Parts: sequence; structure tokens; C-alpha cells
Amino acid sequence: MKVKEQLNSQLAALVPALEKFPWESKEHYAWFLAQTYYYVRHSTRLLAMASSRFDFDQNDQHYGFATHIAEETRHEMLAVNDLKALGFSIQDYPELPETRSWYHSQYYYVQNVDPAGLLGAVLALEGLSVFKGPWLHEKVCQHHGKAAGSFLKVHASEDLHHIEGACAGFDQLRAEQKPIALQSLEQSIWEYAAMLTGICERIQAKKIPLKPHAKAA
Ligand SMILES: [Fe+2]
Repeated sequence: MKVKEQLNSQLAALVPALEKFPWESKEHYAWFLAQTYYYVRHSTRLLAMASSRFDFDQNDQHYGFATHIAEETRHEMLAVNDLKALGFSIQDYPELPETRSWYHSQYYYVQNVDPAGLLGAVLALEGLSVFKGPWLHEKVCQHHGKAAGSFLKVHASEDLHHIEGACAGFDQLRAEQKPIALQSLEQSIWEYAAMLTGICERIQAKKIPLKPHAKAA
């Protein structure tokens, strides 16, 4: 099975959680933006770490990840600004454990398994952008206004070329690295879904107050 087919079949597992999420609810969307900030701020750090760990015979991956850092620079601030447009501050939102699990596993892949593992998370996020980004951006703008949709706008349109680069990067991996990247892809999809479900469950159970007294690290 080609990587794009693998990606499509994995992304299909995320559709129920995405469609069930009440994007029209300001409270839910605000929590989504806050969690987005908490994991996206690790993207450039993870890319830098993974880039440095590729061997000299994998310079395409080394330079590819390094180039990707520039493209992701300050993307976490898009989520913070969208949150501000909604009338909220990141300082009022704690990081959920599901969000931590999502990026913690990527540090594990890079540090303990193989830097190619991070490509699985890149494929998951870029695939998600292509697969659901435009639908999600339109929905959010409709309910919360364009000013609160800049993170989704950038990832639904301007970043579409990333998926092609990520698939080409996968094809160039060593045979033993490909299953690692695919395992990380699967894990990323499930953890992203857990993050969405976790937001819904806590709001429903009123286990997260509207303004928790937790400071952003
Ligand atoms: Fe980004």
C-alpha cells in the first residue's frame, strides 16, 4: 500500500471525532485553539531535533526537516491570535494531558527510536489539513468570524504543498524506517482524536472551568 493510501485510511479513523466536535460552540473552539497552541509550539523544536539526528547519507531528510522549521515558524501564535479574536487569553487555558501525550510520543520516537518517526506526525497533520482543512475553516469562519480562523486558513490553503513533500520524504526513507513512520502516523491520528474527545468530555462533565487558574508555561 502506498503512503498516500495508508494516510487516507488512517485519516478516516479521525473523521467521527472531527465531525462530532461542536465547532459552532465558542467554548469548544477556544479550547481547541488553546490545545493547538500547546502542541504546535513543539513543532519547530521537534523538527530541529529530528533534523540533527539523520545520518550523513540522509541529507535530503536532514535539510528537508530544517527547511520545514522556517515554514512552521510562529504558527503557534496564529492559534493564540485566533483565541484573542474570540475574546479569550491563552493564559486562561491549561494544557490537557491528551495534548501532552500527542507530542510526548513524538519526542520518544525522535530520541529513542528513529528521527523518521516524526515524519508520521508530519503526514498526519499535513494530511488532516488537506483532508478536512477547507471544510473546517469555512465552518469556523461562519460561526466565529474570519479573524478567529487564521490558523485554519493557513493550514487549509497556504500549506497544501507540504503533503507532497512529506510523501516524497517517506518514499526516500530506508526500508527499516518506513514502518516506524507509519506507526507514528497511526499513533498521531489516535492521539489527535483523543485530544478532541477529551475537550468534549471535560466540557460536558464541567470538569474544566471556563477560566481555570493555570498559567501557560
Ligand atoms: Fe503550521
